[in-house]
Amino acid sequence: MIFRQLFDSVSGTYTYLMASRRGGEALIIDPVLEKVERYLQLIKELDLQLVKAVDTHMHADHVTGLGVLRDRTQCITVMGENTRADVVSMRVTEGDKLEIEGIALNVLYTPGHTDDSYSFLMDDRVFTGDTLLIRGTGRTDFQNGDSRAQYDSIFNKLLRLPEDTLVYPAHDYKGDTVSTIGEEKAFNPRLQVKSVDEYVDVMAKLKLANPKMMDVAIPANMRVGLSQEIIAQRGWALSAAQAIALVGKPDVAFIDLRETNERKKHGVIPGSLHAPYPDLRENIGEGGMLHELAAATAKKMLFYCAFGERSAMAVQAAQSAGLATACHIQGGIDAWKKANGPLVERI
Ligand SMILES: [Fe+2]
Repeated sequence: MIFRQLFDSVSGTYTYLMASRRGGEALIIDPVLEKVERYLQLIKELDLQLVKAVDTHMHADHVTGLGVLRDRTQCITVMGENTRADVVSMRVTEGDKLEIEGIALNVLYTPGHTDDSYSFLMDDRVFTGDTLLIRGTGRTDFQNGDSRAQYDSIFNKLLRLPEDTLVYPAHDYKGDTVSTIGEEKAFNPRLQVKSVDEYVDVMAKLKLANPKMMDVAIPANMRVGLSQEIIAQRGWALSAAQAIALVGKPDVAFIDLRETNERKKHGVIPGSLHAPYPDLRENIGEGGMLHELAAATAKKMLFYCAFGERSAMAVQAAQSAGLATACHIQGGIDAWKKANGPLVERI
C-alpha cells in the first residue's frame, strides 16, 4: 500500500495520500490549497490517479484544496452530509463506506469540534480530523462546536476502537505525527476526566484566540462548488422539472453516474443506465458503452449524480469526446427530490 503523510507548516495541517498500489486509484484527506502542486507532482511521480478528495470537516485555519484538485484531476469531492460547503460531489454519513480501488474507509460521524466533523477508519488506522489530536482535542468554541458532543464522539466512538489502532489527526503543532488509541487514552491530558461535565468544563476554560485565517478560510471553504452555471450557459443543463418531463421518453437516456451505495440509499430515476463516474473516460471513449450508444442512436444523453457536480464534469468530458447530445440535470438527485421527481428503489 502507498501511504503518505504530508505536512503544511503554515497551518500545521497533515494531509494523507493513499492508494492500494502504484499506478492505481488514490484518495487524499484534508488537502491544503497552497500545497496542491506538491500533491499533484507526487501523484504523477507515483503514477496514481486521484479519484477522491475528502475533507474531515470545514476547516477554519486553511483553505481546502478540494476545489482545485477537482478542477485539475476531475476527482470526486467528498464531505459529510451536514457540511455547509455549498456543493461537494458526494456526501457521506455514519456507516457509509468510502471506497477506491483496494481501499475502504468506514465513515464515523464524530461531531464536537464542528457539527460536520467526520473520522475515517481504515483497518489499523483512523483519521480523526480535529476531533482527536495527539495529546489534545480540537477546540469546540466556534462553527457549531459542542464539547458535550465531542466527549461522546471521543469516548463512545473513537476510544472504543482497538487500543493499537493508529491515530492520524488533521493537525499537530508540536511535530508528533502519529499516536494510538491506547496511548491517547492513557496520556492525552484532556481525556483524563471523570465525566462529561468535567470535560465540558476543561474545554470552556481554554479561551483560545480565533485562528488567523478564520475570516478568509471559512467563507472560501463554503464555496468549493463547481460553477454549474458555465455548463448551463452552453445549453447543456436541464432543470429537475424539465428532466422530470422526459422520464419514459424513448429518445432520452438517463445516465446515473453515482456509486452503487448512493443508488441504494437515495433511489434511481426510472429506466436509467448505470455508468459510475470513475469509469467515465472509458465509457465515453472509442468502444465505450456511452460512445457506442451515442453513435448508434440519436438519444439525448442525460447525465445525473447526487448534486450535479460529477454530471457537470461528465457533460464537459462527453462533449469534448464528441458526444453532442450530452447534457445533465442541474443540482442532481438532490434537486430532483425537491421537485418531487419519481424514483425507484435499487437493491
Ligand atoms: Fe478544524
